[in-house]
Amino acid sequence: QEDVFKKLVAHSKEYGFVFQSSEIYDGLGAVYDYGQNGVELKNNIKKYWWDSMVLLHENVVGLDSAIFMHPTVWKASGHVDAFNDPLIDNKDSKKRYRADVLIEDLMAKYDGKMDKEVEKAAKKFGDSFDEKMFRETNPRIQENQKKKEEIHARFVKALNDNDLTELRQIIVDYEVVCPISGTKNWTDVRQFNLMFSTEMGSTADGALKIFLRPETAQGIFVNFLNVQKTGRMKLPFGIAQIGKAFRNEIVARQFIFRMREFEQMEMQFFVPPGEELAWFEKWKAARMKWHKSLGMGDHKYRFHDHDKLAHYANAATDIEYEMPFGFKEVEGIHSRTDFDLTQHQEFSGKKITYFDPERNESYVPYVIETSIGVDRMFLSIMAGAYCEEEVEGKDGKKESRVVMKLPPVLAPVKLAVLPLMKKDGLPDMARAIMDDLKYHFNCQYDEKDSIGKRYRRHDAIGTPFCITIDHDSAADQTVTIRYRDTMKQERVKIADLKHLIGDQVSM
Ligand code: GAP
Repeated sequence: QEDVFKKLVAHSKEYGFVFQSSEIYDGLGAVYDYGQNGVELKNNIKKYWWDSMVLLHENVVGLDSAIFMHPTVWKASGHVDAFNDPLIDNKDSKKRYRADVLIEDLMAKYDGKMDKEVEKAAKKFGDSFDEKMFRETNPRIQENQKKKEEIHARFVKALNDNDLTELRQIIVDYEVVCPISGTKNWTDVRQFNLMFSTEMGSTADGALKIFLRPETAQGIFVNFLNVQKTGRMKLPFGIAQIGKAFRNEIVARQFIFRMREFEQMEMQFFVPPGEELAWFEKWKAARMKWHKSLGMGDHKYRFHDHDKLAHYANAATDIEYEMPFGFKEVEGIHSRTDFDLTQHQEFSGKKITYFDPERNESYVPYVIETSIGVDRMFLSIMAGAYCEEEVEGKDGKKESRVVMKLPPVLAPVKLAVLPLMKKDGLPDMARAIMDDLKYHFNCQYDEKDSIGKRYRRHDAIGTPFCITIDHDSAADQTVTIRYRDTMKQERVKIADLKHLIGDQVSM
């Protein structure tokens, strides 16, 4: 699986999806740029989310708030005091780690050991294999399971008690911690604030220290009344926003999974007090359905309910996706109570309440939040789509192809327009078709190299449809359409292309 991940990173670069930021200067840690195909895929992900949130829900509206906000916002939200990660250094390797991530890795290692054991047995016993029975009766699995549960229980308690000494002790006690082994030489664990700061105004005037927002959500909270009043919104209603967020992550790794500059798609749904848990369940189900609707495989998604709730939350879950390096959080769904609005009310001195005509009373609304990282979703889609296949090539010879089986609605290029040859008027005809279709979806004209090579290039960026214009096309006004996943080809009328493709590449 690690191998697949390496290949995916290389493929992302080779085909213009993701580049390291400032690469010619040897890069900047955990910052990435999206190339010509990456930006299309990313925009399509954002549009798919926006349309399903804002267009399909009559009671969800959009917002685009600024990245810079008044510094007191972050005092009120708790980020100045508590948006910290627990840091630990290894004195031998001189490497710095996030203590909680280190422990999670350790638990994943035990999971991995158990899964390997099961895999081996499943291969050996085939159809007669009963996984549940095997797990319950195998002593090595039982031992690993016990170890993992021990670590887990101590970890949850340490997090809940905010006990940094115990976090360190867990790391020391279990000694072999991936990716380091055999060392106990750790520093104390200390807290590190993740917000980036900068200065606004010139120093001569007394510059104001401001922060780059670590989440987009606060822009929604401070605009609650603006949107509610000007939009005459009635509860329950939501505000959705897509935008950049910044975190000075200590452990920046796994490519675009954990970045220092990233993008979020967040929606805050405001509800009357007492109704929040019912709405939490509704949004939980709705969000999972949305992910699965992309067809990347239902079994690749799961919920992970939080062991430790933030002080402002009364329910929280993650939607996880099975990345090449294990199940990882892609989206968080939180019931944030009235914490944020109440805090902003207190710190700003402005009343932030809603008059409910049905209840005939004013109150501070409760909030359900759905928050998804665009880049993480991008990575999950790329990982799910990446496929290496053996196919029949020229003269019946086997060849391999890399194909990105991206959902057509997200694919960067929807249609490749390919004249069979660079002569006999075929390019002109191809151009005419392209000029007609390019207003409806993203088309790419390509006349270089053999048709086989051109198909492979488009497989590699996930183009779901290719059409070839040949010597019969002018006479019968048809072209050959080739489908990416099945590689089947058929003859279709040029006049039908707009509908045939348009229907499959839109939401
Ligand atoms: N407003 C709530 C909030 O920000 P979060 O769980 O810290 O909650 C939400 O972040 C989502 O943002 C995560 O599920 C993840 O997809 C994405 N995210 C968070 N930190 C990230 C990072 N450093 N790099 C990429 N994506 C990140």
